[in-house]
Amino acid sequence: SILEMEVEQINKGSYEHYMQKEIHEQPESLKTTMRGRLIRGGSCKAKSVLLGGLKDHLKTIRRSRRIVFIGCGTSYNAALAARPILEELSGIPVTMEIASDLVDRQGPIYREDTAVFVSQSGETADTLQALQYASENGALCVGITNTVGSAIARNTHCGVHINAGAEIGVASTKAYTSQIVVMAMVSLAIAGDTISNQERRDAVIDGLYDLPNKVRDVLELDQEMKELAKLLIAEQSLLVFGRGYNYATALEGALKVKEVALMHSEGMLAGEMKHGPLALVDENLPIVVIATRDACFSKQQSVIQQLHARKGRLIVICSKGDAASVSPGGLCRIIEVPQVVDCLQPVINIVPLQLLAYHLTVLRGYNVDQPRNLAKRELLN
Ligand code: G6P
Repeated sequence: SILEMEVEQINKGSYEHYMQKEIHEQPESLKTTMRGRLIRGGSCKAKSVLLGGLKDHLKTIRRSRRIVFIGCGTSYNAALAARPILEELSGIPVTMEIASDLVDRQGPIYREDTAVFVSQSGETADTLQALQYASENGALCVGITNTVGSAIARNTHCGVHINAGAEIGVASTKAYTSQIVVMAMVSLAIAGDTISNQERRDAVIDGLYDLPNKVRDVLELDQEMKELAKLLIAEQSLLVFGRGYNYATALEGALKVKEVALMHSEGMLAGEMKHGPLALVDENLPIVVIATRDACFSKQQSVIQQLHARKGRLIVICSKGDAASVSPGGLCRIIEVPQVVDCLQPVINIVPLQLLAYHLTVLRGYNVDQPRNLAKRELLN
């Protein structure tokens, strides 16, 4: 009806689509996610994290033999992005499960496991089945959702709401970045404050405080990503290579491109490049390489050199000021992004890829907010 259309326009504000609005909202949604949960400490107090929904279970989680992340789609990718910092700060082995695959395999889940269910809607059928399975096997079940009162929120032992605000576009954007932030905070909470991890914990907490402003900076790439989308509009395929903290960014960037722009795209672990994907490389196929500064930087530089030697058409995402270090002879297209503490860099790096997927979709004339064949679960009241 006309009324519904008008209400929708009001909800979208000055934006044309929900996905666009939700991408640009991220500086605010990230603040809401962190609000009241970070404690910067006074002169003698240490910096710390307070997660009310988890605090009574932290001891049990610390004692668990394994933490298993379980989710689908974007939520799985968010967990994958947080895995390295959780492993590092907790010292507990962290494994990853795609919800449907865990159920298909009836994979081993034990009473000594902590199973963390990540879901924007809290209603995804595959994730719910995995929850039922893990709970029957006696694991401690933790929910990380964006929907208060959702099935996952209700049926887990404890959890954390991401508080990113309603996400209406089917393709998840702001929920992804808020999920990563929540799981980084969960990692800090599990770590507790020991002398030995204090420096690292402080750096992560400072990084969390820095994030909203840095996300605001990276959103300034909007026009540049639109120009890149124009160049890629007629491509058949796009590869995205990442590793370490940004393996998840490669998977999530490719998922955005395929689910909204309806263009074939694959995210790949750069460390696997020579074990197959390299055969695809020629002068036609566009390839995004994520090469921001972290412990894997020099390895990514050599990946770029190898792709370059095979005449690959490269688009490199690098830290500000690094153009010359990543682009041999200035031949790659460069996207420079602000730098933040390594484990939070995925929150920054996904933004240009969200913008690219958005513009590609609009330029290709597809429905941005409701991609063909896909649906988003909603809580039915
Ligand atoms: C659907 C959507 C994906 C989403 C996935 C998980 O398949 O198309 O975009 O990531 O569900 O949704 P959830 O609500 O569990 O995060």
